[in-house]
Amino acid sequence: METMPDGRTLESAVALASRAPSLHNSQPWRWTLDADELALFSDSDRILPATDPSGRQMVLSCGAVLHHLRVALTARHWATVVERMPDATNRRCLATLRFRRLDAVTDIDLRMAEAIGRRRTERLPMGAPQEWARAESALQMLVEPAGVRLSAIAEHERPALEELSRRIGGERRSDLAYQTELSWWAGHGMYPDGIPPDALPPGRRTVATEREFPPGNATGESAEAEDRAAILLLSTTTDTRLDWLRSGEALSAVLLACTARGLATCSVTHLTESESSRAFLRETARIEGVPQVMIRVGVRAGPGPDAATPRRPTSAILFRKQS
Ligand SMILES: Cc1cc2nc3c(=O)[nH]c(=O)nc-3n(C[C@H](O)[C@H](O)[C@H](O)COP(=O)(O)O)c2cc1C
Repeated sequence: METMPDGRTLESAVALASRAPSLHNSQPWRWTLDADELALFSDSDRILPATDPSGRQMVLSCGAVLHHLRVALTARHWATVVERMPDATNRRCLATLRFRRLDAVTDIDLRMAEAIGRRRTERLPMGAPQEWARAESALQMLVEPAGVRLSAIAEHERPALEELSRRIGGERRSDLAYQTELSWWAGHGMYPDGIPPDALPPGRRTVATEREFPPGNATGESAEAEDRAAILLLSTTTDTRLDWLRSGEALSAVLLACTARGLATCSVTHLTESESSRAFLRETARIEGVPQVMIRVGVRAGPGPDAATPRRPTSAILFRKQS
């Protein structure tokens, strides 16, 4: 029985998985491959200390790439058996994967894999998603097996959320370490990482519930003036590194499922970065757990960003273990 995809299959799946979202497109992941196992490590050189001192979002980003990889491999007829946090002596080792050949692949599997290449973070105002109640309960079922809860922020709570977002944006304008980090990662487009100006809205089009970025030149011809996106929150009961990894996997599942339905998405985390804003979100979403990431979901009003944001080459993230 085959127990390992060939090198080309694994390489192409790792390359596709690297389209996963990550905080400021930092891509904080590394894969190592040996004879019968692939391992995922966080790359702590790529942590953003001023924005993400605990590494919560570094691990969340790695969870997203892990889920992307599993989706990419399923479409190539390979199931994965994952062990999370397999090595108590090495915090950077987040998961190991073993493989089993799959006879059949469903249409849904293929649509999720196809969504990987089409997904973009949409930061312009969006229209309201249609037939949303049904879609929302389908998304809830999608994340439940990962031990992650999906809640919707009620429409009447939006002004309070916008107010909190503005307050945090204002406080951070004078936070030199945060601003230095943000301008290193966002708004230049010179490197195979970071957020290029084309993916950032001009200042006047910034959505009130979004993080404040340096102004860019993303355009949408007939883009909505006001954001009508649904706002979702992923949360967990406890707040361990395993919860962060699981939340990243759930985030990826929600983003791909929405993309497959033709919806636009945006991950939003400036409101989950401090204990006080997490407490506010907990109250606003009427949940008992720990808010991990917000997601805006809606209808892209204009053409949206055409070009994908850059990624590092596979040679910089996939390494073969010497035996
Ligand atoms: C953990 C995490 C946090 C993120 N936080 C934000 C955010 O606060 N605001 C935002 O606009 N995008 C956020 N993003 C989206 C990334 O900026 C985006 O994935 C990255 O720039 C790559 O672009 P792409 O998603 O279009 O491929 C986040 C993504 C992840 C995984």
